[in-house]
Amino acid sequence: MSQNDQKKIAAEAALKFIKGGIVGVGTGSTVNHFIDLLEQVKHKIDGAVSSSEASTERLKSRGIQVLDLNATGELDIYIDGADESNRHLHLIKGGGGALTREKIIAGASRKFVCIADGSKLVDVLGEFPLPVEVIPMARSHVARQLVKMGGTPVWRDNFITDNGNLILDVHNLRILEPAKMEQEINNIAGVVTNGLFALRPADILLLGTENGVETIGTGY
Ligand code: A5P
Repeated sequence: MSQNDQKKIAAEAALKFIKGGIVGVGTGSTVNHFIDLLEQVKHKIDGAVSSSEASTERLKSRGIQVLDLNATGELDIYIDGADESNRHLHLIKGGGGALTREKIIAGASRKFVCIADGSKLVDVLGEFPLPVEVIPMARSHVARQLVKMGGTPVWRDNFITDNGNLILDVHNLRILEPAKMEQEINNIAGVVTNGLFALRPADILLLGTENGVETIGTGY
């Protein structure tokens, strides 16, 4: 089964978790499959909160109303992809640059259902470069601090986040204590947030594999 088909079956599996209400929707190619499927049940839901301009556009094009998180209160469910996950459901996210809004919606949701293809499951996080969103004037300062932490930050070329900031992708990290590293990086002045989701991990991971969907985690 192709990687794209694995993403599709993971997205299909997530649809079963949608019971109504307002759905938090992430960003990326796996979530794009989910949005396409969500159209089929749009009569059952009251709308979506979106983590990026790209997802907002796709949701609207499928006739799904997009709401402001400030107007919705806490959400029952958030569906999003990941760039890496370990078996504790600590994630690296932000390959698409939407990490800050994703982290906000994950934090504002009672349940976070992560959908991904099989290549995303790893033993130790960090092979995928860790995205860090930074305020533009802090770019060099933050990069120097990340070097002190053992990483190799690379400024993402020609990329501005939906919030008007920059991304540093940090290579060469072997992240053995994800929650500790998430806090340490967030403590650097000028960092908006980083792509580690360990303080608020996913509750369940639906992993598309050659043999169908593997469910990891008991948090649901
Ligand atoms: C977006 O910023 C990311 O966090 C995505 O969730 C992540 O990159 C997964 O993308 P794919 O579904 O395209 O693999």
